Amino acid sequence: MNDTPTLQTDRTILKIPGPDDAALMLGYYLENREHLSPWEPERTPAFYTLAHWEKLLRDNLELVADNTGFRFAAFDHAHSEVLGICNITNVVYGPFQACNLGYSIARKHEGKGLMTEILEAGIRFAFQDLGLHRIMANHLPCNERSARLLQRLGFEREGYAKSYLKISGRWEDHVLTALVHSDQVTDTSQNPMNIDKHEV
Ligand SMILES: CC(C)(COP(=O)(O)OP(=O)(O)OC[C@H]1O[C@@H](n2cnc3c(N)ncnc32)[C@H](O)[C@@H]1OP(=O)(O)O)[C@@H](O)C(=O)NCCC(=O)NCCS
Repeated sequence: MNDTPTLQTDRTILKIPGPDDAALMLGYYLENREHLSPWEPERTPAFYTLAHWEKLLRDNLELVADNTGFRFAAFDHAHSEVLGICNITNVVYGPFQACNLGYSIARKHEGKGLMTEILEAGIRFAFQDLGLHRIMANHLPCNERSARLLQRLGFEREGYAKSYLKISGRWEDHVLTALVHSDQVTDTSQNPMNIDKHEV
């Protein structure tokens, strides 16, 4: 893919933030530090610096060029703030055609259906543009908001992994869920983005 994708929803625009967006990204993570910390990996002090974000966002553009990771930020229409995050990562092609989905919404925008709206756009992108077959999303057993959100989007529970991810400094069990494309005979030759590498 030459350009980075942009996805439009009613209330947001999903873009792959580049180094120019470092300040907005840092602002999101600073403002939502307490809100996100129970559900995310432990952050080092360096995480909350502009230099970190400039580098990370530059690296993310390489993942996009490689078609293996699409770390979207959802912006307001004026591009003045980051409302939420939709990360489509670990994209694998070949017979698996799958990815992981990670997400968060700013504390002040919780409970408005915005996360659902953003993830619906991300899911469409993964299925229609990337031609993927399976989207995997996992959550802490106690993360009821996340469980409700995934259920609303049609994700189904597939398992329970012990000591699966190091969250907030501790190895935590996770509920494993997935959304599988309804077309059970996805034709791997019909790949809208002509992705012909990363065979597994
Ligand atoms: C998990 C998380 C993303 C859920 O966000 P959310 O705001 O609850 O999700 P939505 O945007 O879809 O909003 C749904 C809620 O808004 C309400 N709502 C209001 N207007 C709505 C609308 N127009 N459309 C849909 N829902 C609407 C729904 O009733 C629902 O409320 P309920 O959960 O009390 O039933 C959020 O809590 C979060 O960022 N948590 C911290 C990070 C995190 O846990 N990430 C996931 C790790 S696995």
